[in-house]
Amino acid sequence: MMLSLKGVKKSFGGKKESIEVLKGVDFSVQKGETVAIMGPSGVGKSTLLHIIGGLLKPDSGEIEIEGTNISVFTEEETDLFRNKTIGFVFQHHYLLSEFNALENVFVPALLSKKKKEAETKAEELLKSVGLWERKRHYPSELSGGEQQRVAIARALINSPKLLLADEPTGDLDEATSISVFELLRSLAEKENLTLLMATHNKNLAERCDRILFLHNGKIIEN
Ligand SMILES: Nc1ncnc2c1ncn2[C@@H]1O[C@H](COP(=O)(O)OP(=O)(O)OP(=O)(O)O)[C@@H](O)[C@H]1O
Ligand SMILES: [Mg+2]
Repeated sequence: MMLSLKGVKKSFGGKKESIEVLKGVDFSVQKGETVAIMGPSGVGKSTLLHIIGGLLKPDSGEIEIEGTNISVFTEEETDLFRNKTIGFVFQHHYLLSEFNALENVFVPALLSKKKKEAETKAEELLKSVGLWERKRHYPSELSGGEQQRVAIARALINSPKLLLADEPTGDLDEATSISVFELLRSLAEKENLTLLMATHNKNLAERCDRILFLHNGKIIEN
């Protein structure tokens, strides 16, 4: 088992106007599986991914990643664990505009690797997303789909086991969405990565092994 959630709850806001977004989320994902999370805007998909990635604390419940209960970690332990185990791809890729493609990919590896080693790995990854010849280009010189491919390479730089993707193709046209997703999926498959992806795109969701629906604060399996 790669990921297991039990009774995960999360509310936002003060006592009076608090909204309960997650009302007891339970589900598991096997190693190597590709799973889509669907549900209307505002239902809590991003909240859920942020909690799984340790970027946000749940109010209660347990999150196990490869048998490790991350819910009891301190902030420091969470950061360390995330860096080693989890990769993120966001809807808006947040590439650093003052760095070129290659630098954007290797920067997250500098915590754990020497620069030369990080750079070599980043070059390999840019090759695998088909952007080798664009490595010295800045984000503003790349198309949306190309920027998203850089973001995918960046998410893989620390060889994560779990890849969390929050509408990774949200800004792209349908054909580019499918090709970026298929790239993501083939890289995940090659590395035996587990992929959990929030999406509004039914065509992409149907290309996953399984679809989970977030509805009224809980997960409904299709
Ligand atoms: N930091 C916060 N403070 C208060 N409310 C928040 C916060 N973060 C999220 N919310 C609320 O929680 C709910 C779930 O938000 P979330 O971003 O998880 O939805 P989503 O399913 O990802 O939506 P979308 O499909 O539009 O990305 C929304 O009502 C949102 O306004
Ligand atoms: Mg969202």
